[in-house]
Amino acid sequence: MCGIVGAVAQRDVIGILLEGLKRLEYRGYDSAGLAVVDGKTSTLKCVRAVGKVKELVDKIAGEPVHGKTGIAHTRWATHGVPSERNAHPHISRDEFALVHNGIIENHEELRRELIEDGYEFLSDTDTEVVVHMLHQECTKNEIDTLTAVQRIVARLHGAYGLCVIRTSQPDRVVVARSGSPLVIGVGIGENFVASDPLALGQVTDRFIYLEEGDVAEVTRDKIRIFSGDTPVERKTTRIQSEIDEIEKGEYGHFMLKEIYEQAKVVKNTLSGRISDKHVLEEAFGIKAKAIFDQVTNVQIVACGTSFHAGLITKYWLENIAKMPSQVDIASDYRYRNIIVRPGTLFVTISQSGETADTLAALRYAQEADYVGRLAICNVATSSLVRESDFSLLTMAGREIGVASTKAFTTQLTALLLLALVLGRRNGMTSQDEEQYVKDLHRLPDLINKVLKQDKAIQQLSINLADKHHALFLGRGIQYPVAKEGALKLKEISYIHAEAYPAGELKHGPLALVDDKMPVIAIAPNDELLGKLKGNLAEVSARGGKLFVIADETAGFDDEGDYQLIRLPPVPDVLSPILYTIPLQLLSYHVAILKGTDVDHPRNLAKSVTVE
Ligand code: M6R
Repeated sequence: MCGIVGAVAQRDVIGILLEGLKRLEYRGYDSAGLAVVDGKTSTLKCVRAVGKVKELVDKIAGEPVHGKTGIAHTRWATHGVPSERNAHPHISRDEFALVHNGIIENHEELRRELIEDGYEFLSDTDTEVVVHMLHQECTKNEIDTLTAVQRIVARLHGAYGLCVIRTSQPDRVVVARSGSPLVIGVGIGENFVASDPLALGQVTDRFIYLEEGDVAEVTRDKIRIFSGDTPVERKTTRIQSEIDEIEKGEYGHFMLKEIYEQAKVVKNTLSGRISDKHVLEEAFGIKAKAIFDQVTNVQIVACGTSFHAGLITKYWLENIAKMPSQVDIASDYRYRNIIVRPGTLFVTISQSGETADTLAALRYAQEADYVGRLAICNVATSSLVRESDFSLLTMAGREIGVASTKAFTTQLTALLLLALVLGRRNGMTSQDEEQYVKDLHRLPDLINKVLKQDKAIQQLSINLADKHHALFLGRGIQYPVAKEGALKLKEISYIHAEAYPAGELKHGPLALVDDKMPVIAIAPNDELLGKLKGNLAEVSARGGKLFVIADETAGFDDEGDYQLIRLPPVPDVLSPILYTIPLQLLSYHVAILKGTDVDHPRNLAKSVTVE
């Protein structure tokens, strides 16, 4: 998804802008560009390139540009194909250059007005209207950029993080935020802006997070922030450098590194949140107890992998907390006429905390009568955390691979803690709690045991690499695990994969099964094992190629009509977390065999900050 970097300094900012863009590469993008005010000529110099930041770097190396004030952008196409002319920055009358994250929903109407006023459009983007509006506003009213930005944002519908420079005010960058994150990086005699503090880790560790509706003017020695027209103070936060987290180390890809980090980060997620026998409810924050005491049911909202974590939580809430829950996809929930039962806790789940649909769902939920809004999130400073009543952070560390792995298992770990604190209020005995907590203490070790199957899974992946379709089967709580397995395979190997509750096969999907259809089944030794075996027999009888990930005590043997990955016996409550890991490894190895861009799969972005 799009990324923004900006700088105003006494030195040439080209290196800072390019390094910032490289640091944002993990978010996914299709083109990149930058613009600076040339110090000598006071003119705009703009360079744009399709593809990776490397293309932009090469272009600049061929035709160097320099400047002490500049903005840069990585674009993920929403309006108009990925091309040089659609890449940002966009320019108006050689005076203004602008980069934008988000979507301007009323751009067509604004474009018509601007065309009538003589503005020529050079791109198909929604963004270009904004830069011409600025030019129009400044020229007609002879005002400075800051005032013009304050005025025009009132006419923009949609979401934006904006960053603009102007030749007649070459000493400043003006920014505005609504629905798309922006931070100001505070330097010494120089200042910076970015959509993510990671982009500025090489120049500062002090950041000011802009709030919704803020507009700011940033010069070398002054930062002025306004909420609309009113000057406001925003606090400066110091953030430790996260550079070591963005190194792949011994691993070929971030995804593999992140799969292998799971024991450690799950341990971090549990750390300080469980004692020997109990869940430490205080970890949910000071407001939590009063809210939890009122909860009689739960509404969960999330997207993608985080949605699958929500589906699994539904089973935990039923089994452990004896509590009803509803799990919705955020992009649908936000447009429904929701009916909220008394006593409902609203829970969002998100790795990034900036997913536009999940944030919009939270904002929609702010209007409704929930007893509280809890965010399960990996980013402490994210919009989701800041706008929720309380949060439980997953301690996954930065996840770079677009395909979510450690974020998912840490989400599940945190959500299991939620089920336990609610269960405590709804009939779960202290002996039960003690047993669950004991199981949780074993989780990191069990993860490492499961990872030992990596070689066997790599071997098995050879059977899938030339296939066009795959089915994933699970029963009960393993059905969402199967869905997550199918999503991982689709995402990074581009093989079409679907998941079904195994009992549903005979109601339609069985028609797809033949000897070209790999069927991956998840078979822990739980109360549904017998039923699952019956369903797998139906697959074998139709010639389907079965791959079973099974508990070694589940009665599958090497003689069977299937290929087997054996996992150690695990407590039922932990099985969704542990059975996810072989599926992550399977999709990783299939993607490697297919030669796809594992960490940056096509068409996808790490953080989806547009609707
Ligand atoms: O940051 P979030 O957890 O809110 O992101 C939600 C989805 O976009 C994300 O989980 C996506 O499905 C992953 N790429 C899946 O691997």
